[in-house]
Amino acid sequence: MSSKSIGVGLLGLGVVGSGVVQILRDRAQVLERHYDFQLDVRRIAVRNVGKSRSIDIPAGMLTDDASSVVQDPDVQIVVEVIGGLEPARTLSLAALEAGKDVVTANKALIAEHGGELFRTAHENNAGLAFEASVCGGIPIVRSLTQGLSANGIDSLYGILNGTTNYILTRMSDEGGTYEEILQTAQELGFAEADPTMDVDGTDAAQKLSILCRLAFGTDVPYSQILTEGIDKITSLDIGYARELGYAIKLLGIARDAGAHIEARVHPTLVSTDTLLANIKDEFNAVEVVGDTAGPQVYYGRGAGSLPTASAIVSDLIEQADRRSSGRQQLSRSLVDVRTGTPTPKDRIRTSYYCRFTVQDCPGVLAEIAHIFSEYTISIATVIQQGRSEVEGGTVPLIMTTHEAGEADMQRAVDLIGELPTVKETPQVLRIESFT
Ligand SMILES: NC(=O)c1ccc[n+]([C@@H]2O[C@H](COP(=O)([O-])OP(=O)(O)OC[C@H]3O[C@@H](n4cnc5c(N)ncnc54)[C@H](OP(=O)(O)O)[C@@H]3O)[C@@H](O)[C@H]2O)c1
Repeated sequence: MSSKSIGVGLLGLGVVGSGVVQILRDRAQVLERHYDFQLDVRRIAVRNVGKSRSIDIPAGMLTDDASSVVQDPDVQIVVEVIGGLEPARTLSLAALEAGKDVVTANKALIAEHGGELFRTAHENNAGLAFEASVCGGIPIVRSLTQGLSANGIDSLYGILNGTTNYILTRMSDEGGTYEEILQTAQELGFAEADPTMDVDGTDAAQKLSILCRLAFGTDVPYSQILTEGIDKITSLDIGYARELGYAIKLLGIARDAGAHIEARVHPTLVSTDTLLANIKDEFNAVEVVGDTAGPQVYYGRGAGSLPTASAIVSDLIEQADRRSSGRQQLSRSLVDVRTGTPTPKDRIRTSYYCRFTVQDCPGVLAEIAHIFSEYTISIATVIQQGRSEVEGGTVPLIMTTHEAGEADMQRAVDLIGELPTVKETPQVLRIESFT
């Protein structure tokens, strides 16, 4: 079959960019057999042309002038794998305005500037594909936009960040502290030198914001999503959670709640019987509940050179296929979204795990139970540790509650924290039961 050549320009040749070049080279013959086009990388922009690379690149293909790649008339599809907001935004907009398709792995860019980029793509009949921006190699974007297009999505929840799942898994399996495991994760390359956006939940909130656009047709700004990180999780909590039949996972949770989208990212106790509780290390998983298909689970590697590049190359193939067949580039459903505010925090209802560090003396449990009952919070289980070895010392008191309102819970815990017998800031985590 004679192949039409489609020119690809890469912006970035780091972890992901190198993977894209490798897959396109390794699979060139297969792609040529299956499609009536071939994808030819023509230009690659990097920051430092002189840097040594893990992959051989023909002389003259590299440039440090990213705009020249976007403007190159031989480039029809631009792959943005630079990362960050600028110059990624300006370069992507310039490509779309020139009618070129853009494929990106950049969740920060889509979460922050998705509205502007989708509009520009639509106005210029260009494509904007972003499969790799959420959960790396897992085809969750395509599943929501195509595979589940006959469904209204009721809810979705999942492990959207591999770094935090790696840290929580190691803390659970090996018992180290958060700080020790984070350091090991950095040494092994599972956590970035600056892991802030991963561990404080921002990365997961950006991905959840993108998923809300796809699942509910609603633009929920990630900055408005209730976001809590994992830095306050201790091995003690992981141990007590296990004793109670739960694992602690950083979950992104989104539900269509009618007037609002309930969207939140926080460490969550999930029953050890569930699939999500058993997702280990740097793996990601998303469970989507459709109103016709029912629950579906998507599981795989959420990051890494080849898994992420796999998602990019599948986007490249789709864009090239549309381009060569002259079909409309971008689904209107990505452009015509409503702007949504997430359900206010006060209105969330869930069950809770609480760990109080209390003075080892009679009557403490009764005092705490009394405050909970004043806020109609019903206690489900209590674990009371044995006596402190030191007279008047402290012991942990663990409680779980039945479903309660977040506002009531917060007020009750604030009052409990002020009791003279409660010696440290209470630890409160949410429990979710998924059907
Ligand atoms: N790594 C993953 O597992 C993963 C997973 C999912 C999504 N992503 C996303 O993929 C994107 C790329 O990540 P990465 O891990 O591949 O990053 P990376 O390894 O840091 O690579 C970034 C590349 O961009 C180039 N670059 C940076 N600024 C530039 C500029 N102003 N002009 C031209 N080139 C520039 C760098 O050039 P030099 O090589 O010369 O420094 C480098 O080649 C990010 O948006 C990230 O969030 C990554």
